[in-house]
Amino acid sequence: MSIGAYEPGTVPVRVRAAGKVNIHLGVGELQDDGYHELATAFQALSLYEEVTATAAEDFSLTVESDGFIDVTDVPVDDSNLALRAARLLAQSTGVTSGVHLHIRKGVPVAGGMGGGSADAAAALVACDALWDTRQSSAQLHELAARLGADVPFALLGGTAIGTGRGDELTPALTQGRFDWVLVPSEVGMSTPQVYGVLDEIRIRHRADLPVVPLRPRVDDEVLHALRAGDSRRLAEALGNDLQVAALSLRPDLADTIDAGLRAGALAGIVSGSGPTIALLCADATAALAVRDELAAAGYVGVHAHGPVPGARIV
Ligand code: C5P
Repeated sequence: MSIGAYEPGTVPVRVRAAGKVNIHLGVGELQDDGYHELATAFQALSLYEEVTATAAEDFSLTVESDGFIDVTDVPVDDSNLALRAARLLAQSTGVTSGVHLHIRKGVPVAGGMGGGSADAAAALVACDALWDTRQSSAQLHELAARLGADVPFALLGGTAIGTGRGDELTPALTQGRFDWVLVPSEVGMSTPQVYGVLDEIRIRHRADLPVVPLRPRVDDEVLHALRAGDSRRLAEALGNDLQVAALSLRPDLADTIDAGLRAGALAGIVSGSGPTIALLCADATAALAVRDELAAAGYVGVHAHGPVPGARIV
């Protein structure tokens, strides 16, 4: 054995994966498979999940908070997406041993920022290294897509356009960085419920609403603003079709957006299916001022920037 080489499985592997915001989220009609055709622009933000994989005979999981996140509602049984990711990789590669996963959460739970998807992506990368299963990016992507619509983006990171269920990804060109303040809620929201309410609203108000496109598109203005690294231009182009549904379930979120705008944010939207509110700010200094101003108004916000990389071994 050469110096530095080690037996697969003997050293724990730690992987970091980022949360995300949907800068733009266009939702098409409900499909027969229960999913909606999407066109979304994802951006990975500097709020991180950390997953440590340690060799074990069985599959088990523990969860810890980074101090900011409430983890009481995170399942530690087989319903946890990270454990499902580990089992799926083992099954598809013929690995017969297990793994202990330890998750350190830095992304709000059930918050619309893809924390569970980041855990699953991190678990795939960590277990692939632990078990030396040497999956290609394409193979990992395929497993990720089977776990959830947002998991492939958590692997990739950066800024990307997602179509299909949100899992067919094309990296987007960006310049510089974008500064955000994220305001989580104490109570999470169910993604299927928010999509369901959107369907109801669209049926009830069909006569008054524009026709729902079969294939939604990301506005060109979003791509131009990203490419130019222009926060003000991006602020004008933010959009989320799920927002009307999230606000109908949680009208108080509109107050959070208003408070963010009063505190100096350029724009605010519901992140993904909510309830986290994402406030885009002019730069890092402005974001810190918005965060402090919000704190004075009784809202707890956290500053993050994007784009940052996808799931990586640390
Ligand atoms: O794929 P994932 O498990 O993250 O999706 C959670 C739920 O969100 C789905 O069961 C579905 O109700 C809804 N969804 C959807 N269309 C998408 C993505 C998610 O309707 N493209």
